[in-house]
Amino acid sequence: MKEKIRVLISEEDVSRRIDEVAAQINRDYEGKELHLLCILKGSVFFMSELAKRLTIPVTMDFMSCSSYGSGTVSKGIVRLNKDLDEPIEGRDVMIIEDIIDSGNTLSYLIELMKARKPKSLKLCTLLDKPSRRIHHEVVVDYTCFEVEDLFVVGCGMDADQKYRNLPYVGVVESGE
Ligand code: IMP
Ligand code: MG
Repeated sequence: MKEKIRVLISEEDVSRRIDEVAAQINRDYEGKELHLLCILKGSVFFMSELAKRLTIPVTMDFMSCSSYGSGTVSKGIVRLNKDLDEPIEGRDVMIIEDIIDSGNTLSYLIELMKARKPKSLKLCTLLDKPSRRIHHEVVVDYTCFEVEDLFVVGCGMDADQKYRNLPYVGVVESGE
């Protein structure tokens, strides 16, 4: 059966909201340098869009991890597939995520990053599904949109590796 995508958040709305969040970050980090950490693969698109709007000096690095052990409810073990290239000690660091669901991935990553002694560590996400949170210790500093408990795609997010390139946030629906 062919899949149809229903638009949940339009490209224009996504873009406008990233403008606002970037403006807030520019104000909050005035006079500082910000090191962005992209969690591959989903966050690539959001990080690019955000970074283009930042006027403060920015550097970036990439890491990749996967969680397994409990099917779709991600409360399993997180494995680091690709670590950062550079140390983060003494730097103002911001983790960039596409979507925070249970918080399992971030709970692990935040502990791992804190142990490396950054000067500061903040978290910025395109989407948050707060109703799904298991790890309440995960505090999000910058959220573009909160969404209900739906499986979304686009803006970097995938369903079986598809739809990452959609310029809007959509929901997969089966159709004719
Ligand atoms: P968490 O560890 O449960 O917070 O899951 C976070 C990761 O699961 C995200 O970075 C996404 O890669 C993936 N994920 C969670 N919800 C969705 C969704 O609705 N669409 C696509 N990926 C999702
Ligand atoms: Mg992700």
